[in-house]
Amino acid sequence: MVKIFVNGYGNIGRRLASAFSADKEVQFIGVAKYTVDDRVKEALENRFGVYVPEPLLSKFKEQGYKVTGTIEEAIRQSDLVVDAAKEGGGFENKRNLYEPMGKAAIFQGGEERHGDHAVADMIHNSRVNYSKAAGKTYVIQGSCNVSGMGRIMQPLIENFGDKIKRYDVLLVRRWADLEDSKEVKDSIEWDRNPHHQDDVKDFIPSANLFVDAYKVPSRMMHLHQMTVRFAGSAPSKEEILDAFDSEFGIAILGSAKGTADVRKKAIQLGFPHGDTGMVHIHRDVLRIQDDIVKISYSDDQTGMVIPENHMLMQSMVFKRPRQDALKRTDNLFQMSKKKKVLEEEFK
Ligand SMILES: NC(=O)c1ccc[n+]([C@@H]2O[C@H](COP(=O)([O-])OP(=O)(O)OC[C@H]3O[C@@H](n4cnc5c(N)ncnc54)[C@H](OP(=O)(O)O)[C@@H]3O)[C@@H](O)[C@H]2O)c1
Repeated sequence: MVKIFVNGYGNIGRRLASAFSADKEVQFIGVAKYTVDDRVKEALENRFGVYVPEPLLSKFKEQGYKVTGTIEEAIRQSDLVVDAAKEGGGFENKRNLYEPMGKAAIFQGGEERHGDHAVADMIHNSRVNYSKAAGKTYVIQGSCNVSGMGRIMQPLIENFGDKIKRYDVLLVRRWADLEDSKEVKDSIEWDRNPHHQDDVKDFIPSANLFVDAYKVPSRMMHLHQMTVRFAGSAPSKEEILDAFDSEFGIAILGSAKGTADVRKKAIQLGFPHGDTGMVHIHRDVLRIQDDIVKISYSDDQTGMVIPENHMLMQSMVFKRPRQDALKRTDNLFQMSKKKKVLEEEFK
């Protein structure tokens, strides 16, 4: 049994709370709220303990919310904090709370790995470096795109090894999540310095990888087009698809026309939070041209990292072998079942 507190209750924190509170190996302490809004009601209706900053206790109570206590009290009771603060907020939390209180923490992909604001010395990807996190105190879970790239690249490396010369990823990013209230701007914006390339190299140092990222006016997932250049002629389409066939968290879809088809199907099928938690290779636009393979896959931005956090927790806390951890994560998130259903729906 491990005591877990989720510090933050935004798009990622809400999903982490649903998952960890359903795990029988976890004593779920609760979630942090910093703003008095309707999400407090939602957290209370989900029967989560709600913890707030000490100076705001009376404000939450005045609004009629039965909060359990302060964030410091929650952290004191916990073995592990899963930080879900907005990009960069984890650094302050580590400095002001986790380190002084001697608590282990998982950070999300918006935190820094290098420089003055670094929060950890590794980025986790369950397909690549799961075991390296065993017993660590602070680890960053790679962002959705970084997790997706690792999930696609590692099977390619294992199957085709040093025949691969380089990877170029064109990353098309959604503007906002479905739950976000922020406006979706009618513009295509470029990222002058995408973090994904360096983040992936943290767990696949040998990767000759180049990433360009563009943000488009959509709320429906990300799409990556990964161009893989081989020495000599590229493998066949069948060989490429075979490499992914039995991979955890990868569905191979045929008839989907775009990211919204996949997201709306997940919602229609009643998947928790409308997430698939995976990447989806779009078979119809998998192209082989001489020495090049172009793989297009959509990446469920909100869902992707939640099973990853669960895997990471099992490495850090239980030091469990990967296959055993995968079985438990699959059981909790029903990933294999979801993969089968999606592949059937989009034959
Ligand atoms: N959204 C995605 O698709 C996605 C995917 C992968 C990774 N990530 C990463 O996950 C992290 C969280 O992103 P998000 O999309 O969930 O952000 P978000 O929806 O903006 O939520 C951020 C949350 O942080 C809370 N907060 C405010 N001050 C805090 C503090 N000092 N400590 C902890 N929490 C605090 C806010 O609480 P109140 O609402 O109560 O103010 C809010 O619930 C980021 O690192 C992001 O890069 C996001």
